[in-house]
Amino acid sequence: MSDFLLARAADILAGTSPESVEIRGWVSRKHTVGGLVFILIRDGTGYVQVSARKGTADAAFDGAKGATKESAVVVKGKVRDDKRAPGGKEVSASEFVVAAPAESWPITRTAAKSGSFLFDKRHLSIRGPKAIATMRIRAEVIGAAFDYFRDSGFHLISAPSFVQAAVEGGSTLFSVDYFGKKVSLSQSAQFYEEAALPALQKVWIFQPAFRAEKSKTARHLTEFWMIEAEQAFAEQPDNIKVQEGLVSKMVERVLANRQADLKTLGRTLRQPSVPFPKISYDEARSIAEKKGFPFEWGDDLPTEAERAISLTQDSPFFITDYPLSARSFYHMTYSDRPKVTKSADLIAPEGIGELATGGQRIHDHAELMKRIESQDLPTESFSWYLELRKYGMPPHSGFGIGVERTTRWIAGLKHIRSASLFPRTLSRISP
Ligand code: 4AD
Ligand code: MG
Repeated sequence: MSDFLLARAADILAGTSPESVEIRGWVSRKHTVGGLVFILIRDGTGYVQVSARKGTADAAFDGAKGATKESAVVVKGKVRDDKRAPGGKEVSASEFVVAAPAESWPITRTAAKSGSFLFDKRHLSIRGPKAIATMRIRAEVIGAAFDYFRDSGFHLISAPSFVQAAVEGGSTLFSVDYFGKKVSLSQSAQFYEEAALPALQKVWIFQPAFRAEKSKTARHLTEFWMIEAEQAFAEQPDNIKVQEGLVSKMVERVLANRQADLKTLGRTLRQPSVPFPKISYDEARSIAEKKGFPFEWGDDLPTEAERAISLTQDSPFFITDYPLSARSFYHMTYSDRPKVTKSADLIAPEGIGELATGGQRIHDHAELMKRIESQDLPTESFSWYLELRKYGMPPHSGFGIGVERTTRWIAGLKHIRSASLFPRTLSRISP
């Protein structure tokens, strides 16, 4: 009698598992043909077909104690080649145990037609093939960031989520009662990264950011994950290079390791070439005007205009040199163009829009003080941020890129909420 060795669906299909295997997973699909049942089992690495015979593996059949859809099961059996099975392999079961049965699965074909029902039942619907493929792609994107930054000499740091200063303006701050004091949830860890520069020179961060965005769009969440990077002795062109390297690495990894998941999502993804195209804000404005989306110089790019420009590109690209009036207070301006910042947004093609915002920061104390005062901002909330400029703050720059927006683009998702396991939006805080 041979031993059954625990094996993963992916290894069984790849032909790298032993012949006698134990599979632990969930019943995804089944159909019965007389005394034989075929069950597609999902184990987190993929799907493998099990065949079971009445008399040998009765628990595989429906019935009082049978393996209904989404039951957790443990199967022991032999791997055989079978052209008719998905992936060309089948495990014929000699033992079939229901480890945890499932009640009648609520996500029926008809119910699944309602997007809001699927998100109400997100704790269950995440078992679906598209959600699984998306989560694996998201993990690949994040993994690529860890490798990219480590290989480029950036140190990973963490920062608090309870904060007092608004990095990106007061209008999207969530406030929290902090022992009777009003504090906010962090919109961005940028100021903490800047503080860490003299200690570590190059830093990056991966953590949630919170925005009280009252916009019900396909690209806004109220809680999302942000990757941010900041480096000292770095001007805006250096900052652009880091973004190009990071996004290229993310796409490269997904193309190398997640082909099956891209296919599940029907996504054709191409490796962008570096450097990415660059369009100045002024050029963007005239393109938008020609496309029928005019806007005033000084305004932030309206979503419609950004979308129209994004549809003209087939690779991620930068829009550079935004007016100061459309940017947060800390942005450095050109010495000969005091109304124009050394900043850029990284925009995804195909109408997806902004993935990242970055720029060079004011490193001079007097200049930053002047900027804060000229914008009537509360100097006290920025006291430590200002003080950094008194103790060896060289030119520095950085950016923040949204993980769910990037995943949405790479995976080709219609809505940002699909890029989040449990999305938080204007209208959704459960499950
Ligand atoms: O453009 P934002 O507001 O820039 C910053 O926060 C800078 N302080 C970052 C930095 O320089 N360190 O946010 C950065 C990115 C956006 O480009 C977008 O991808 C994502 O964060 N983001 C959102 N993603 C989902 N939902 C929202 N409501 C988002 N707001 C921003
Ligand atoms: Mg932005």
